[in-house]
Amino acid sequence: MNRHLIGTIAFLLIILSNRVLGRTSYGYNKEPEFAEPVRNVTVAVGRTAQLLCVVDNLGTYRVAWLRVESKTILTIHQNVITRNYRVNLSHNDHRNWVLHIRDVQESDRGGYMCQINTVPMKSQVGYLDVFVPPEILGSESSSDVLVREGFNVTLTCRSKGYPTPTVTWRREDGEPLAVGNWQNNMIQVSKFVEDLSLSAKVHKGAQLNITKVSRLHMGAYLCIASNGVPPSVSHRIILQVHFPPLIWIPHQLVGALLGSDITLECHTEAFPTPVNYWTKEDGAMIVSNMKYTCGTIEETYKIYMKLTIRNVEPVDYGKYRCFAKNSLGETEGSIRLYEIHISSPNEGELSTSFLQSVNGKKQWINNSTVGKPAFSAEGDADNRRGGKFNDHTRKNDRTSRNSSSSSPELPGRFKKDQLTLIIVNGLLLGAYFLLHFELSAVR
Ligand SMILES: *[C@@H]1O[C@H](CO)[C@@H](O)[C@H](O)[C@H]1NC(C)=O
Ligand SMILES: *[C@@H]1O[C@H](CO)[C@@H](O)[C@H](O)[C@H]1NC(C)=O
Ligand SMILES: *[C@@H]1O[C@H](CO)[C@@H](O)[C@H](O)[C@H]1NC(C)=O
Ligand SMILES: *[C@@H]1O[C@H](CO)[C@@H](O)[C@H](O)[C@H]1NC(C)=O
Ligand SMILES: *[C@@H]1O[C@H](CO)[C@@H](O)[C@H](O)[C@H]1NC(C)=O
Ligand SMILES: *[C@@H]1O[C@H](CO)[C@@H](O)[C@H](O)[C@H]1NC(C)=O
Ligand SMILES: *[C@@H]1O[C@H](CO)[C@@H](O)[C@H](O)[C@H]1NC(C)=O
Repeated sequence: MNRHLIGTIAFLLIILSNRVLGRTSYGYNKEPEFAEPVRNVTVAVGRTAQLLCVVDNLGTYRVAWLRVESKTILTIHQNVITRNYRVNLSHNDHRNWVLHIRDVQESDRGGYMCQINTVPMKSQVGYLDVFVPPEILGSESSSDVLVREGFNVTLTCRSKGYPTPTVTWRREDGEPLAVGNWQNNMIQVSKFVEDLSLSAKVHKGAQLNITKVSRLHMGAYLCIASNGVPPSVSHRIILQVHFPPLIWIPHQLVGALLGSDITLECHTEAFPTPVNYWTKEDGAMIVSNMKYTCGTIEETYKIYMKLTIRNVEPVDYGKYRCFAKNSLGETEGSIRLYEIHISSPNEGELSTSFLQSVNGKKQWINNSTVGKPAFSAEGDADNRRGGKFNDHTRKNDRTSRNSSSSSPELPGRFKKDQLTLIIVNGLLLGAYFLLHFELSAVR
């Protein structure tokens, strides 16, 4: 019984001592094993990639790194074999073997094998993916484009990168790309953006085809290439649409009072930017001076022409023409300036008092509120027919009597006796208070 116990203890001691020495009684050397798989690695070009191989119980065996595709040996044990100066190795405790690849190139993309020289050999493979940020190929992309209105135009933006970049288009001013057959190619960003109208602001693809280009397409376009690897890049293309001038006149008949200042307006659209000028009935070109001010407000292809005539005299009535001329054509519009006769000042009590209050019968005429109705005369159609002159004139007079009132709180509807009544009432009230005050003072 005792001997048996001693034998058991001795056996346990042997096992323990073997354990301490890293050996087992079942075999002198335990086979090396991979502690974990070699992980796949993704890096952007130019960065450093690290592939890690973890081996347990390496013992006297050795670890090597190889390229899978070319079967070239990169490292064996602690030595770097490859001539590629970008490759290096680090290890600790003969357990973690890290392959370093500096300044990663696209050619480094592929499989890397970590191998242990057991028989048969053991190996694991990890893949290195190399991302390349997008780049726009300027030579294969559109530069600024000039096209005649009505033609088809294609804007191109070629890009490269890995993964293959997607190219999206938008207008620099944020306006939707809209209109044209190519609307069919719209991508639905609405998945992310609730507003459906926003989806029309973006077009996807290397080419932006615009059928029957119009002046509305004119502007700066941006193509943006992105593939998830920062930074995204963009390219700017200016689209210019050429078309001959067009003139639109809001008021072809303009009435003005003698001595007033009046402004005639012409709206033109043309590209390239036209030459704009005004002429009088005799064809003489009008230049800015004491009498006239010619102004233009330009907004891309739209030009707003303004001619101000100061202190209108009888000779100023008549026909004026505005001209717009560019390389593609020329057009003109005409405006007739006619005289407004103010109705007799004695016609209404209020206009009389008004004229008196400013002591000068012409002074109120050049007041802008008087002149305005002549410009903004609604119903151009009526004006153009020309049959409603008098009606129009009288309408203005009525307006002027209302709006030119220096004291609008005193409406013309008040009859003289009504006014008197108010004044009398006021006086009576005043008298009552005075009386009341004196009575209380006496008490
Ligand atoms: C690593 O990449 C390869 C090839 O791209 C793939 O087959 C494998 O499943 C990936 N392994 C892991 C752990 O993601
Ligand atoms: C390679 O790595 C070792 C240790 O990690 C380091 O001492 C050595 O400078 C590295 N060589 C290069 C070329 O980076
Ligand atoms: C423009 O494109 C449309 C449709 O793609 C085609 O029908 C038309 O002939 C083209 N016009 C020109 C001037 O190329
Ligand atoms: C755009 O037009 C070009 C020819 O100019 C054509 O090759 C291309 O397929 C068109 N793209 C689309 C999306 O219609
Ligand atoms: C109205 O115009 C005349 C000449 O055009 C000028 O002498 C007068 O001062 C103007 N009246 C007012 C109130 O500005
Ligand atoms: C015309 O009336 C406006 C107020 O409606 C006033 O501000 C302006 O000074 C007046 N102009 C003249 C010339 O009297
Ligand atoms: C002028 O006054 C009349 C009566 O007070 C009013 O019906 C009319 O709308 C006014 N007109 C304008 C242009 O203010």
